[in-house]
Amino acid sequence: MDHWSKSCFLTLVFLIHFSFSSHLSKAADTLYPDRSLSGNQTIVSQGGIFELGFFTPGNNSKNFYIGIWYKQIPVRAVVWIANRDHPISDTGASELKISEDGNLVLAQSGIPVWSSNLIMTTSTNSTVAVLLDTGNLVLRYGSNSSAALWQSFDHPTDTWLPRQKLGLNRISGENQLLISWRNLEDPSTGLFSHGIDPNGTDQYFLWRNGTKYWTTGLWNGKIFANIPDMSSGNYLSYVHVSNERENYFTYTFRDTSTISRLVMDVTGQAKILKWIESSQEWLWVCLLPSDPCSVPSLCGAFGSCSLETVPFCSCLEGFEPQSSTDWNLSDWSGGCVRRTPLQCFNSSVNREKDEFLMISDVQPPTNPQYLGAGTAEECESACLRSCFCTAYSYSGTCSIWNGDLYDLKKLSNGSSTGDSGVLYLRLAASDLRSENSQRVHGIIPIIIGAVAGSAVCLVVAVALIWKFQSKHPTGVSEEIKGCSLVLFRYKDLVKATNRFSEKLGAGSFGTVFKGTLPDSTLVAVKRLERTGQGEKQFRAEVSTIGQARHVNLVGLRGFCSEGSERLLVYDYMPNGSLGSQLFQKKSKIVDWTARFQIALGTARGLAYLHGHCRDCIIHCDIKPENILLDSEFSPKVADFGMAKLIGREFSRVLTTMRGTLGYLAPEWISGLAITPKADVYSYGMMLLEVISGRRNAEVSEDGNVTFFPIWAASKINKDEILSLLDHRLEGKANVDELRRACRVAVWCIQDEESHRPTMSLVVQILEGVVEVNTPPIPKQLYNLVENREDMLSSEATFGGQTL
Ligand SMILES: *[C@@H]1O[C@H](CO)[C@@H](O)[C@H](O)[C@H]1NC(C)=O
Ligand SMILES: *[C@@H]1O[C@H](CO)[C@@H](O)[C@H](O)[C@H]1NC(C)=O
Ligand SMILES: *[C@@H]1O[C@H](CO)[C@@H](O)[C@H](O)[C@H]1NC(C)=O
Ligand SMILES: *[C@@H]1O[C@H](CO)[C@@H](O)[C@H](O)[C@H]1NC(C)=O
Ligand SMILES: *[C@@H]1O[C@H](CO)[C@@H](O)[C@H](O)[C@H]1NC(C)=O
Ligand SMILES: *[C@@H]1O[C@H](CO)[C@@H](O)[C@H](O)[C@H]1NC(C)=O
Ligand SMILES: *[C@@H]1O[C@H](CO)[C@@H](O)[C@H](O)[C@H]1NC(C)=O
Ligand SMILES: *[C@@H]1O[C@H](CO)[C@@H](O)[C@H](O)[C@H]1NC(C)=O
Ligand SMILES: *[C@@H]1O[C@H](CO)[C@@H](O)[C@H](O)[C@H]1NC(C)=O
Repeated sequence: MDHWSKSCFLTLVFLIHFSFSSHLSKAADTLYPDRSLSGNQTIVSQGGIFELGFFTPGNNSKNFYIGIWYKQIPVRAVVWIANRDHPISDTGASELKISEDGNLVLAQSGIPVWSSNLIMTTSTNSTVAVLLDTGNLVLRYGSNSSAALWQSFDHPTDTWLPRQKLGLNRISGENQLLISWRNLEDPSTGLFSHGIDPNGTDQYFLWRNGTKYWTTGLWNGKIFANIPDMSSGNYLSYVHVSNERENYFTYTFRDTSTISRLVMDVTGQAKILKWIESSQEWLWVCLLPSDPCSVPSLCGAFGSCSLETVPFCSCLEGFEPQSSTDWNLSDWSGGCVRRTPLQCFNSSVNREKDEFLMISDVQPPTNPQYLGAGTAEECESACLRSCFCTAYSYSGTCSIWNGDLYDLKKLSNGSSTGDSGVLYLRLAASDLRSENSQRVHGIIPIIIGAVAGSAVCLVVAVALIWKFQSKHPTGVSEEIKGCSLVLFRYKDLVKATNRFSEKLGAGSFGTVFKGTLPDSTLVAVKRLERTGQGEKQFRAEVSTIGQARHVNLVGLRGFCSEGSERLLVYDYMPNGSLGSQLFQKKSKIVDWTARFQIALGTARGLAYLHGHCRDCIIHCDIKPENILLDSEFSPKVADFGMAKLIGREFSRVLTTMRGTLGYLAPEWISGLAITPKADVYSYGMMLLEVISGRRNAEVSEDGNVTFFPIWAASKINKDEILSLLDHRLEGKANVDELRRACRVAVWCIQDEESHRPTMSLVVQILEGVVEVNTPPIPKQLYNLVENREDMLSSEATFGGQTL
């Protein structure tokens, strides 16, 4: 779409509209001395890019502010606010105007609320305020457009716009700072700020409440040391001005049609956001620092930070947010408070002793006190002796913490081994009891849900074996490095792929090519078909995996959207797809240990998609071709072109047919709405293929169709599991793992969604944390075979490709 002709058109409409309006009759971008702005009136920059007027932030706020936002973007992004700390309540009784002394003033019922606060030296009854297409509001003499008396760019709120200076006035010592909002709905001055070094060096800092916690590193004339990606000129270019009067940078985007901004966010990260026209959303392309949990005290007292949850902050068990309103609006600084006070302080004679809750896989708070206790028990009783001791840990040495706990980080499950990464948190015994019973309750309904309700329900006792330590310590969740999503230029990708010369394969709606970035990293570049489907797929990919990060999801490095070209750039996976490893004739077959880890890793990736990111993501197309393998054969779920993003509050999602036949859950075929359990079904089908090393449906040379899962389900039902194992493995497999994998696979392909386990339960079963009983044989598989001719002919029609 031609951006400029669209904005010109809008401006035209606007001008026509306002030429009939009694107010603002001269120019729609200017506020004149004899005019004022009130109610819902606005002024709009000449090109129709920015708009200034009253607005109210968020959905529940009753406060109004004067602000500037993008005129044409439906998801309102306010880039500047006049009165952030002085809201008004009634726009009808308020006006923004040029006062008699030439200042720009906001007044409510005649009482000034905010002013540009200039001391005017000459008679200035001719000053005007003009909103420019850069987003800058400039106060100047009407007749002389070169001299700005005052400009909003000199008084930033939380946003740094392209071409805006952000720096230090060396003479006055005044330093321009971006300061975060207090929370998502309150633009008043928050805790986090971003600005250049007030001491005069060429680097930007981030501060929390005045304490520095991050730096861009020094500018070397080309890049900032700590953000080479962003500053290397790939898509941002900086201009540095340093002289005896000032020290500042401005930046622009290489692609000038990009609508982007840098915001000091309420989470303590500076974010570069880009407007994605095709998906109508603001997407971050860079987060500084990349790890939100490195922001000090982000989650407040007794909060814990995890990269794998949204929001990042949660309260430790036994604690609740001090203010749930603030907490829900992403202001976590108030931290958490105990549900029940420690009984240590209770003067009653028959008080209960406090107890400790073991929390594993954590990075404990900094600044412990070290005690000379020789054993864990001594360490525990040392902590109990002081009413101020709130936690201890013991790994050879005894560390205790007194008072509030800050900066606790939750790591991936199973990522720490032994006693390191284990913290014992002191709680009132009554809270500990409720935590324990909650834990158990959390699991039983899932399993009962997975078994009950079946017409052929066998009442099975499912033994729960609770192990606090995972038997399979796995890698820490991958750290997000540098800029998380890079905007690539088309010509750079043409170069990286050597003009799209080395084809790796064809995914849904596009072809994948091998590429080499200038720093020699190998990438896979997917070039999407230039059709409506390609556009849809692009949106799905960028908005889903662009925001989901997990060690078992393929890493999207960035994308390119220029003209009609849509490209996605991924990490290169040297071992190709699981499909090619299993089904193509290879000299070396994947051994059982690797297969089991692939099954487990894939389940973890899916569990993360289903439950751990902002919205629940249903992949919708799980099959061996979409599981990629890195150099260590660690699996990465790929190809999110079919994925459905649904909010947490979803019940069931209506849908059109997606996915690949053979892996499709019955609810797809019968046209019912789908839930994450559809992925569970496809996963189960795939797991049978991983175990057996053969396709589930095969046509033999004499034309006979074999549908493997039925046979497999009946063998598993009789516990004849070794007969399912890929014969090429010659029986070399861990039988316990094999049994768990076989059983869980058949549970996954149950007809009724409610009988299938969730992906996180699958993970626990594979890990051996939860035991699983023999699954019943799914009935619909038989029906499928009845109709197998149809099924196979439709598969032939679609050539095994996705629909
Ligand atoms: C602006 O406010 C007036 C009076 O409150 C109302 O009649 C008018 O419809 C509003 N215009 C818009 C565009 O909301
Ligand atoms: C306001 O409501 C809309 C739609 O109901 C929602 O998408 C948006 O996230 C809400 N904004 C905030 C700040 O809660
Ligand atoms: C500005 O003030 C001068 C004298 O004080 C007057 O002649 C002139 O008309 C005023 N201009 C406007 C635009 O009010
Ligand atoms: C505009 O203002 C500048 C700076 O104050 C001054 O140098 C210039 O002479 C003025 N031009 C006119 C036409 O008033
Ligand atoms: C500025 O320099 C002084 C003295 O070198 C140092 O104490 C101070 O921490 C510096 N401030 C910042 C923000 O780096
Ligand atoms: C910020 O700093 C001030 C003064 O240094 C202190 O009183 C206040 O409690 C701090 N706020 C937070 C949320 O840390
Ligand atoms: C905060 O969110 C939680 C969970 O969504 C909800 O139960 C609670 O009522 C919310 N609190 C407030 C004050 O909105
Ligand atoms: C103190 O302990 C007694 C006995 O267990 C209990 O009934 C009482 O509620 C406790 N008081 C507080 C403030 O927790
Ligand atoms: C870790 O395991 C616990 C209990 O099994 C579960 O509640 C939690 O969601 C898991 N967290 C992650 C990040 O997987």
